[in-house]
Amino acid sequence: MPLIAPSLLSANFLTLQDECNMLNESEADWYHLDIMDGRFVPNISFGPMLVEFFRKATKKICDVHLMIEEPEKMAEQFRNAGADHLSVHIEACRHLHRNIQQIKSLGMKAGVAINPHTPVSALSDILHEIDLVCMMSVNPGFGGQKFIPFTIEKIRQLRKMINERGLNVHIEIDGGVTLENAPQIIAAGADVLVAGNTVFKSPDPKATISKLKQL
Ligand code: DX5
Ligand code: ZN
Repeated sequence: MPLIAPSLLSANFLTLQDECNMLNESEADWYHLDIMDGRFVPNISFGPMLVEFFRKATKKICDVHLMIEEPEKMAEQFRNAGADHLSVHIEACRHLHRNIQQIKSLGMKAGVAINPHTPVSALSDILHEIDLVCMMSVNPGFGGQKFIPFTIEKIRQLRKMINERGLNVHIEIDGGVTLENAPQIIAAGADVLVAGNTVFKSPDPKATISKLKQL
């Protein structure tokens, strides 16, 4: 059974408490919180202040996906805001190993996110240090984009690398996940599904989460 991580980016921010109540009553496993700085990606979302509100609204895991430059400057603030997982982009980190050590020393689980064009082989020398790979299946910056099919092959490659080394690293797929493509994504070896539009724009979000979970 996959873990389900709805992306709050697609939620209705005018009624966030209702959205959180819905998630809390649902089979969702993680809150996926997308942080965008307008520099690493061409969009701005929200920061630690809102993460703190989500932290108060749920006991579920807060999985924070940083799409920001110089993530080392903000890591402690996100920990203080209540992040359980912190993922940084490989493309934004000149000293990735140091960034990962910092996240772990702050007491969070460490993730590395990779863009669609970044090869899985780029993870080779950091894989044993991390808890999750956030594999982007769209170009980061916006919810509601279309899944890039080549990602399926990358999931297979990463699953093979993880299994061959006997590691325990989550493969989280982020972007364009639907009820239609999710079975293929899971079959390729992913174990965490991020879903924004598929959950929050569906007529019955809670039921949609259940359907994803049952796949
Ligand atoms: C994209 C974000 C994703 C996104 C997911 O930059 O990292 O988490 O919001 O939304 P959907 O599922 O709608 O593609
Ligand atoms: Zn994300």
